[in-house]
Amino acid sequence: MRARSSVFLAVVVSLIACSGGGEGPITEPRIDPIDPTPMEPVAPVVRFPELLGASPVLEDTNADPNIVEVQLRAAPMTVAITGAELEMYAYNGSIPGPVLQAKVGDEVIIHFTNDLPEPTTIHWHGMRVPDWMDGSPRLQEPVPSGGTFEYRFVVPEAGTFWYHPHVRANEQLEKGLAGVVVIRDENDPEYDAERVIQLDDILLDGGSTMLPPFLASHPEVMHGRYGNVLLTNGRPSEQSVTTAEQGTVERWRLLNTANARTMELSITGATWRVVGTDGGLLPEPYTTERLIMPVGQRYEIEVTYDTAGAVELVSHVLTLNDAGTDVVEVPVPVHHVDVAASARTPRTIAWPMLSLPEREPSIDATIELEGVSDPVTGVSWRINGMEHAHEPIFTFPHGTTARIRISNMNGPEHPFHLHGQFFRIVDDGQPWTQQPGLKDTVLVPGLETVEIIAYLDNPGYWMAHCHILEHAQLGMMAEIAVEYPVTP
Ligand code: C2O
Ligand code: CU
Repeated sequence: MRARSSVFLAVVVSLIACSGGGEGPITEPRIDPIDPTPMEPVAPVVRFPELLGASPVLEDTNADPNIVEVQLRAAPMTVAITGAELEMYAYNGSIPGPVLQAKVGDEVIIHFTNDLPEPTTIHWHGMRVPDWMDGSPRLQEPVPSGGTFEYRFVVPEAGTFWYHPHVRANEQLEKGLAGVVVIRDENDPEYDAERVIQLDDILLDGGSTMLPPFLASHPEVMHGRYGNVLLTNGRPSEQSVTTAEQGTVERWRLLNTANARTMELSITGATWRVVGTDGGLLPEPYTTERLIMPVGQRYEIEVTYDTAGAVELVSHVLTLNDAGTDVVEVPVPVHHVDVAASARTPRTIAWPMLSLPEREPSIDATIELEGVSDPVTGVSWRINGMEHAHEPIFTFPHGTTARIRISNMNGPEHPFHLHGQFFRIVDDGQPWTQQPGLKDTVLVPGLETVEIIAYLDNPGYWMAHCHILEHAQLGMMAEIAVEYPVTP
């Protein structure tokens, strides 16, 4: 308003100056008069819908609507998660880390400061960023303690992703370094509300006073570090209680950011369907009884509160029975919604037109995941016979569509994750599930083979590893190269 009124004043002044010339009648200034009614207060620009349950959203300090510029700092923090104070690590003083939000096509600039007592990097899990911005310690010299780094990339697609360190990841993630990334598209369907449900677990000693040492027990080396406290958005899961109104329809973004625990999930008290996965929304949403979500994967689900009452997201946890003789499944609610009665009827969500790549594979490749006993660490976890393979296990031409069979030679399961690319799961090694959509992580059950079709469109050197972070730390970590396109 200020700028406009000074233009108005300037016009008036020049008219008065002209009138001094005595040349005929003064014409009215040809400008709209200022509206005398006080202006409505201007609402702050809200770029994105609210994310219920999530950590604070990173503040975008860049006025350009197509640039998201944020500050991220990793530092030690003392946190009371279950009552006792724990020595943890946090991004911007928040566990989980703050949410990075942007839209497709935005340039994202992250000014990162490492105030941890050890080196670290940040990996943007699932986002097809350039490889040198991907946090791979094979390409990026880890940011030393006290150092800084600027991550910068253009956001290629919408979906639910996450970020976490890729140096001593088994410890740094368990200590709290992980945050959610939400990327939006202008054609995203509109929901009454959106929720982030980041599932995790943490291992605390009996008195809940400290984190037991890492990689120090046989079960941890064999199966990864399973926590004994389930966490939802960084708090003990039983505290994840909220309210909603009957007749509303929500979009839930589910993530599994645990070190090792595969989550088997169902929902009681509401109608739900799966609408998205690692690579974003599905052309055709589907219904299922249960979702198996290994570490690394994401699911987006649409939840319709058709009736009033309790709605629960249930994690079916495998545990030993009291006698210690059998493994039994115990349903544990990890998110609870009290739905208040209302006359509102749920609307039908209009689904956008979407399509996913469906290309025929031109190359076959095989990956073998194997554990071999090791006198020092207990187990050497290997990919194609190599622990921490130093050379890429494959080099593919740019744009290759590859059929990759991934075999698990032992009993413990492996959620296999490929950086920088998407794939489809053709056969998931389970008799009763289907996992449509684009993925970056696939669970390879014990002694099974899964088959994926990978779209190797993002050139560079890409980490490929088991997302059970203990397995990766003990060697189940490799690299796949995708050549740069030949430019004429
Ligand atoms: Cu979340 Cu190398 O990955
Ligand atoms: Cu593994």
